Amino acid sequence: MPRRTHRCGELRESHVGSNVVLNGWVDVCRDQGRGLVFVDVRDREGLTQAVFEASAESSDVVALARSLKREDVVAVSGTVRLRTAGPNPRLATGAVEIAATGLEILNRAEHPPILPDDAEAAKMDEEVRLRHRHLDLRRPRMQAILGLRSKVTRIAREYFHDRGFLEVETPLLIRSTPEGARDFVVPSRLHAGEFYALPQSPQLFKQILMVAGCDRYLQICRCLRDEDPRADRQAEFSQIDLEMSFTDRDEVIETMGGFAQQLWKETLGVEIPEIPRMSWADAMNRFGIDRPDLRFGLELVDVSDLVAESPFAVFTDALAATHLGRAGCVKAIRVPGGATTVTRKSIDALTEFVKRFGLGGLPTVKVTEQGFETGIAKFLDGCAATLRERLGAVAGDLIVFGPGRWETVCKALGELRLRLGRELGLIDETRWEFLWVVDFPMFEFDEDGNRWVALHHPFTAPLPGQEPLLESDPGGCLSAGYDLVCNGSEIAGGSIRIHRQDVQKKVFELIGLGPEEAEAKFGFLLRALRHGAPPHGGIAFGLDRVVMHLAGTDNIRDVIAFPKTQSGADLLCEAPSEIDAAQLDELRLAVKPPPKP
Ligand code: AMO
Repeated sequence: MPRRTHRCGELRESHVGSNVVLNGWVDVCRDQGRGLVFVDVRDREGLTQAVFEASAESSDVVALARSLKREDVVAVSGTVRLRTAGPNPRLATGAVEIAATGLEILNRAEHPPILPDDAEAAKMDEEVRLRHRHLDLRRPRMQAILGLRSKVTRIAREYFHDRGFLEVETPLLIRSTPEGARDFVVPSRLHAGEFYALPQSPQLFKQILMVAGCDRYLQICRCLRDEDPRADRQAEFSQIDLEMSFTDRDEVIETMGGFAQQLWKETLGVEIPEIPRMSWADAMNRFGIDRPDLRFGLELVDVSDLVAESPFAVFTDALAATHLGRAGCVKAIRVPGGATTVTRKSIDALTEFVKRFGLGGLPTVKVTEQGFETGIAKFLDGCAATLRERLGAVAGDLIVFGPGRWETVCKALGELRLRLGRELGLIDETRWEFLWVVDFPMFEFDEDGNRWVALHHPFTAPLPGQEPLLESDPGGCLSAGYDLVCNGSEIAGGSIRIHRQDVQKKVFELIGLGPEEAEAKFGFLLRALRHGAPPHGGIAFGLDRVVMHLAGTDNIRDVIAFPKTQSGADLLCEAPSEIDAAQLDELRLAVKPPPKP
């Protein structure tokens, strides 16, 4: 059989009369009897129907066609003609079919344990699909996502190469990096008893490349973080990683925002207008989260001053308490029409929900023509009018209140806002809302409240002019970090870096990293900073998250060819697995692993 002439999704009316050869998998084989067999041949690009009809010369071919089974690998030759049964509008190739004259079976397939069929896959246990990923990936939907992902990396390379970025690879076997997650470690055979860490990101290497004069760096790289997977998080994931020298925050934001716009335009044909910026403080205060979903309202409104005189002790207690130097607050959300759409029962469920995030309860009132009723209405007599005005409340609305510590109120009401937005159907799924979140604090307190930790990573510079605050008021010092948020998900994060050794040392000191520990962990970076480091900054896009948005899926495993399960297992190759005693010995790891539960 000659080499294939076309892909299975390619043939159209204009090909009628051409002699073609297609290669692919048998999607369907329908033996109609009376020497007539229909075979749908499928490849990455689509499906074409081939028709085998018995005639004196072709009886062997028809007999062979009748023997075809699902997923056999075939070469079919013949002539393109208009579909005899009339066009099939559901198929791109539906106008035509092949009058088949030749058939070669390139490989027989055993009966497949799962079918590469999108409708079937939706009903199937994901673990079964992952175990048979070679079949699962044959599905049209998965092929389309693989194609989309490849397009995204091609556009990234073109966009950044056009702007002078060099693609540089950085090592996988390294010393620990500081993204804040747990490291995966690899034992060294040649340095017995010692370990490499796998990179949580190429952060330090890309900074060293800037010191090395590389000027603009790009890498589509793998990052490894030993943390629990989530719907949008994998232990092993990919970044489009970027760094620029002699730059500032505005230039990085313009360059990277331009890339996001280009990407959405080329993949979805969507024009994203200039991406607005919002300070971290605004994002937290108005949306309770540092990655606000701007596709719907339900903003948090601070009403602390209005309810300060209320006889409701829950409010006054919250306002009287301070935590980590911040006064408590009362915030409110107005739910339009909520007096009827949110039932008593669902208020109970929402109360339990906010308690999970640390709030004591969820006081509510219904808005009437006259004022407030139900819930805590009787405590708000003195401030009903001002509350209504600030919240823009009208009769029929529901108002929910979050009193407590500022962080707790933001977190709980931020989560509540997202839940209400989803449950009340307020999120317009057709919208794209991008946002740069900027002006993050340099530091936040750790969970125990007794140590500063870097909000981005400890190589993030203070905003210009904020450096003196590192000495006088570290908690008030703002950083030159920025996150790109798309529909409430963080798709990229980065910062302008510290390029001076003294500032870097000060930041290490503030996060409790003494000079010796800093030298031991990051000595190679500190040394580089001594030898003429240019001002520099960069960002990393989460490639998987970007593709999730473009593909319209909320499952990160859909956009990774060979993902891990929620428990971090690779079901296809059955990793992780035990290794034999000799290997353990060689690595001086001769510890017997605990028995599996
Ligand atoms: P950061 O840790 O914010 O920054 O990561 C950058 C982007 O990578 C994506 N991302 C993930 N995607 C899938 N699974 C994960 N576990 C995961 N973790 C992060 C997110 C995130 O916005 N070195 C810095 C970047 C820099 O400062 O230039 C870094 O890695 O979309």
